[in-house]
Amino acid sequence: MKVGVLGGGTMGSGIVQVAAQNGHDVVLVDLNQEVLDKSKAKLAKIMARLVEKDRVSQEESDAIQARIHYSQDVNDFNQSGIVIEAIIEDLGVKSKVFAQLEGIVPKGCILASNTSSLSIASIAASLKNPSLAIGVHFFNPAPLMPLVEIIPAVQTSNETLDKTKTLIDGWKKVTVICKDTPGFIVNRVARPFYGEALRIYEEGVADFATIDWAMTSIGGFRMGPFTLMDYIGNDINYTVTETVFAAFYFDPRYKPSFTQKRHAEAGYLGRKSGRGYFDYEEGAEKPVANEDQELGKQIFERILVMLINEAVDAYFLNIGTKEAIDLAMTKGVNYPKGLLSWADEIGLDVVLNKLQAMYEEYGEDRYRPSPLLRRMVKNGETFFG
Ligand code: NAI
Repeated sequence: MKVGVLGGGTMGSGIVQVAAQNGHDVVLVDLNQEVLDKSKAKLAKIMARLVEKDRVSQEESDAIQARIHYSQDVNDFNQSGIVIEAIIEDLGVKSKVFAQLEGIVPKGCILASNTSSLSIASIAASLKNPSLAIGVHFFNPAPLMPLVEIIPAVQTSNETLDKTKTLIDGWKKVTVICKDTPGFIVNRVARPFYGEALRIYEEGVADFATIDWAMTSIGGFRMGPFTLMDYIGNDINYTVTETVFAAFYFDPRYKPSFTQKRHAEAGYLGRKSGRGYFDYEEGAEKPVANEDQELGKQIFERILVMLINEAVDAYFLNIGTKEAIDLAMTKGVNYPKGLLSWADEIGLDVVLNKLQAMYEEYGEDRYRPSPLLRRMVKNGETFFG
């Protein structure tokens, strides 16, 4: 099948590489020639490194690069079996582009969007035949992160879903099917990793370095929340939080943080601006964590039970199967364990008691335990038996 990719930025370039490495002829279209040149040069560099490391042969590397056609003309999608769109995150622009693509691609071509935050239903609605639209959400960097969330809209046909899933499974990706709701699985369930860490800081319980230390050393996460937010960029991470908050009709569980807003406003965006929660300038002093085990354990447990509650609620609301929810967090954002398995391990009663205690202490809806958690504890159930 010929694969089309629209938008040659960070995500589009990664998706092109994945498709070409899996033997597809690929057309990459971007409006900007400079972006296309950059994308091509970047892939050449990546492939050279893979050849150097003996991960692919020179012939394979040449063949992969020869399969990609770079173009500024969307009419070049006229032979595609699927087009994956990875352009600017703007519903108006995406809708216009989808309607335009429908007039160019062959009959039956699947039109997929890599959107992180827009509803697939609203994008699909721009098509005359919305049954061909679907969400395919890759993670950055697309060639390295195994997870792809596949999101059928209410209009998507089973045939479109099956074909898309089969194709992307064939790319040796881990696919999970999720309901078309804000943040899909990963960007919904991960909210407390940032939000609760920021709240702990705002309450004066601990500083950034200590919270990061607790999550990595005690929790086993690859990166602490503040280091991770500095990687993602505080502007971007704040906007995602604000979008999810609004999309959930202002559910207090997803309330954004003033600390993050002020950091973004100050230009403390993270690594890309040289300073975020931490200072990345050369010679900057590294803050020292307070490695108090008891404090660290409290911080880790508070964030973990909030994450588990979010995962349980996502399962309760059928956003994905329990297997999908656990896989999403381990394969999309490298969590050390799936959150539902983790809940089994700790004991659902222990998780519920901790949440209930916070709910009573704060009197805030933010800490309300998922009804499913209460029900399962009452019935003595576990997630994976
Ligand atoms: P980017 O800014 O790196 O790339 C977007 C590209 O689209 C630019 O090269 C731009 O020239 C091109 N473009 C804009 N309008 C166009 C049009 N009408 N026709 C053709 N090309 C056009 O953006 P990035 O980060 O790659 O994101 C793309 C999409 O993927 C967004 O929807 C984003 O929400 C989503 N996404 C981003 C992730 C990330 O970590 N950056 C992760 C998963 C999804």
